[in-house]
Amino acid sequence: SSANNEKRETRNIAQKLKENGKKLIIFWGSQSGTAEGFANRLGRECHLRFGLEVLVADLSDYDAETIAAITEEELAIFIISTYGEGDPSDNTTGLWNWLQKSKDISLLNLRYVALGLGNSNYKYYNRVIDMIAESLDNSGAKVLMPVGKADDAQGTTEEDFISWKEDLFAMFRHRLGFQEQETRYTPTFSVIKDDSLVPIDLHYGEPSRTRDKVKTVASCSPIRALAVKNSKELLGSSERNCLHLDLDITDNSDLHYKTGDHLGVWPINPNEEIERLLEALGCSKERDEPITIRSLDPDIKVKIPTPTTTIALLRHYLEICAPVSRESILNLRQFAPSPEAKIYLTTLGEDKLAYTDFVSRNYLTIGRILSLASPKAPWTDLPLSYLIETLPNLQPRYYSISSSSVVSPRRPSITVLVSKTPLPNDATQNVLGLTTNYLLALSNSLNNTNRQAQELTYSLTGPSDVLQGGKIFANIRKSKFKLPTLSSCPLIMVSAGTGLAPFLAFLSERKKLVDIGRPVGEMLLFFGCRNLDDDFIYRAELEQFERDFGEKLKIVTAFSREGREKVYVQHKVSEYGEKLLRLLEKGANFYICGRAGMAKEVERTVGEVMKANEGWDDIQLGEWSRSMKGTRKWQEDVWG
Ligand code: 2AM
Repeated sequence: SSANNEKRETRNIAQKLKENGKKLIIFWGSQSGTAEGFANRLGRECHLRFGLEVLVADLSDYDAETIAAITEEELAIFIISTYGEGDPSDNTTGLWNWLQKSKDISLLNLRYVALGLGNSNYKYYNRVIDMIAESLDNSGAKVLMPVGKADDAQGTTEEDFISWKEDLFAMFRHRLGFQEQETRYTPTFSVIKDDSLVPIDLHYGEPSRTRDKVKTVASCSPIRALAVKNSKELLGSSERNCLHLDLDITDNSDLHYKTGDHLGVWPINPNEEIERLLEALGCSKERDEPITIRSLDPDIKVKIPTPTTTIALLRHYLEICAPVSRESILNLRQFAPSPEAKIYLTTLGEDKLAYTDFVSRNYLTIGRILSLASPKAPWTDLPLSYLIETLPNLQPRYYSISSSSVVSPRRPSITVLVSKTPLPNDATQNVLGLTTNYLLALSNSLNNTNRQAQELTYSLTGPSDVLQGGKIFANIRKSKFKLPTLSSCPLIMVSAGTGLAPFLAFLSERKKLVDIGRPVGEMLLFFGCRNLDDDFIYRAELEQFERDFGEKLKIVTAFSREGREKVYVQHKVSEYGEKLLRLLEKGANFYICGRAGMAKEVERTVGEVMKANEGWDDIQLGEWSRSMKGTRKWQEDVWG
């Protein structure tokens, strides 16, 4: 601990509950913040509606074995996400390992409920919560209702959470006899104006509280302001944008990357959305005044760097462009500036169908809902503390690094498709991806062009100079997506769209090996995109690699929008079945990078090829697949 006078906090959860008189513990296991956000919301609501004394806890803050000492008077809730190949988040590994490895755990006193977050496009849908619940049950814990599941594949995570929560509250009332009380907002945080603060005291966008101790995840580097050295548009004729960005880490001796790692980009919010929200809150004038955020509850920490300013808060720290849930709309009613505004929110929020229809044709951010509900009068009763408590904190977005650490150790590059998705029922309106559109604006400003269609404006440097000269806040995250140590090992690589990124790195690394006279194994690369002329990114580079590697490299393309029928990489994988088998027999490593839906199809196709060729049944295929993954001969880098 950095501060000597700070009391060391216990890692014994049972003791912590006793000491603080808490009856309900809500554990979260989260990487990207969704489970954490749900846990906080649930905690607040349990307290407000049922008067429960609640502790919301990061799983990694306590020693897993101490949950055995939780008593029958207490209740535990687990909200835990599953990632990639059915993996737990970093902060869940302690509990995960303890449950997997320990024998004879006795949890006879533990009463619990659980909610898992996952994506059914992935093969191991919600595996983590299922395995945890199974282990808890086997150790004698008593589950009070069926394990809930939220599925991101259909975009229903939020609604799934709400209906699970309704079941939970029904269980509270009927089974546990908890009494419900009328709810009124009581702040957890206080936001204090403090004119004695001077600019040097303030945080203007640094993602971490650099002057305090920050909890860093082992697999992530510290966050630094990195210069974008070069930025290039990869799509020629298209309506769309895809950027290649080179970043500079020469001045950051604490940053290192390895081929296959990810780069996290900390986005900033667009001016349009910040202005809209400031206006709706009626605090445009105080935007630059210093504020300090303090927690009124010793068990809840302020995660936003403070002191700061309102404008920095809205620009750098809160996710103000996130869609607003039905529940949030209803909760906003308590601050409505007029009866009309209240009616507007009620009509929209209480009717699930009306809400679904509305969001299919309107992009609903917090600023938009506030100004729609009350176009003239500002929401002066809505305190900033409420937004800080209820909006998610801005999180980094991770991109697969497309350069090789052997070839350019201090210049990692990323490949970014600028995301622009038409609303389902109004194609004239687009949902613009936060980070990718920020990077587009940055790229335009660096190249001093506006040829690339840019719809939003950003204050790229802010009031501080940390980001001056085209810098972004970024960090590096280690990944397990790695080339085999043996350069002679053959590679099969399957990608679509920007999933090509890590394979460019693989190819340039192997090219370097050839140059220094090392033997390299055969390589088979599948790449899918829409059209030859539209989005065949890095075409020249790939053709150069073909010339350089000769027989060693075969590139197979699949164009989905060239002919009348869609041709996807999985079709090509099937077509090249024999070559695939030959390479696998020679011990090839198999890699997939791109969207989860694609990866799932590719895996299924390879399974069919294997079954047909080897005469396997599903069980034998399953064994092969497990062993390929277990020995890391099969690796995936996929996103939802
Ligand atoms: P589409 O958009 O024409 O359907 C990169 O996005 C490429 O991946 C595009 O050619 C896209 O095709 C394709 N793609 C979309 N869904 C896919 C899936 N389930 N499997 C494989 N490729 C897919």
